[in-house]
Amino acid sequence: VFSFAGHLQVTVKNVTIINRPVIQSKLGELRDVKTPHADFRRLLGEVSAPLIYEATCDLPVKSRRIQTPLTKAEGVALSREVLFVPILRAALGMLEGAQALLPEARVGFIGLARNEDTLQPEWYLDKVPRRLGRFEVLLLDPMLATGGSAIAAGELLQQRGAKSIRFVHLLAAPEGIRSLRKSFPDSLIFTAAIDSHLNDVGYIVPGLGDAGDRCF
Ligand code: PRP
Ligand code: URA
Repeated sequence: VFSFAGHLQVTVKNVTIINRPVIQSKLGELRDVKTPHADFRRLLGEVSAPLIYEATCDLPVKSRRIQTPLTKAEGVALSREVLFVPILRAALGMLEGAQALLPEARVGFIGLARNEDTLQPEWYLDKVPRRLGRFEVLLLDPMLATGGSAIAAGELLQQRGAKSIRFVHLLAAPEGIRSLRKSFPDSLIFTAAIDSHLNDVGYIVPGLGDAGDRCF
């Protein structure tokens, strides 16, 4: 879909592929079928901090006067509070990395499980604040396959007043990117890789398998 050979970061129509060596080397370990679940979970946390760092590089800031131990200085603070919304289960593995980067961020939880026959997401948990207007919202899910889960979650966030949503994924299928962009043409999407395709049971190929099962 996108050719990014040799580039560390490429953005095409609001989709940013983050091709940094540290992220890509950990992604390789995550793909490896021999990586056991404890290592998988650790790696997913580790890879998420730099992914989210890249996804928040252009957050708005406001200026701030600071008193250092020596003198006054000019600094900045984030203009708006950050809300992380991991989609259970697999994105729980991303949360540790997200919170390492921004421990003060608030966290809302969404529980969605894809029905394995229809591939449609089914809701089982909504622990997201009622009013989201004041937040910069980052939706976290390592896998963007058909896009059904991210779209359902994004629609809830919009209904709650989220003004801008950043979708942060580790791996995406071209099919999921297309659907998500169609539903959220103004949102930013970040991923470490866009794989070849979905197979006939909705798995990303080559992918890394079932992220939730591999985590837990
Ligand atoms: C996986 C993954 C995403 C979803 C992506 O979760 O973590 O949430 O599938 O697929 P989609 O783009 O086709 O909706 P799953 O529903 O398997 O639940 P789990 O994390 O509990 O395993
Ligand atoms: N969900 C996963 O965990 N893996 C896939 O490949 C697709 C959806």
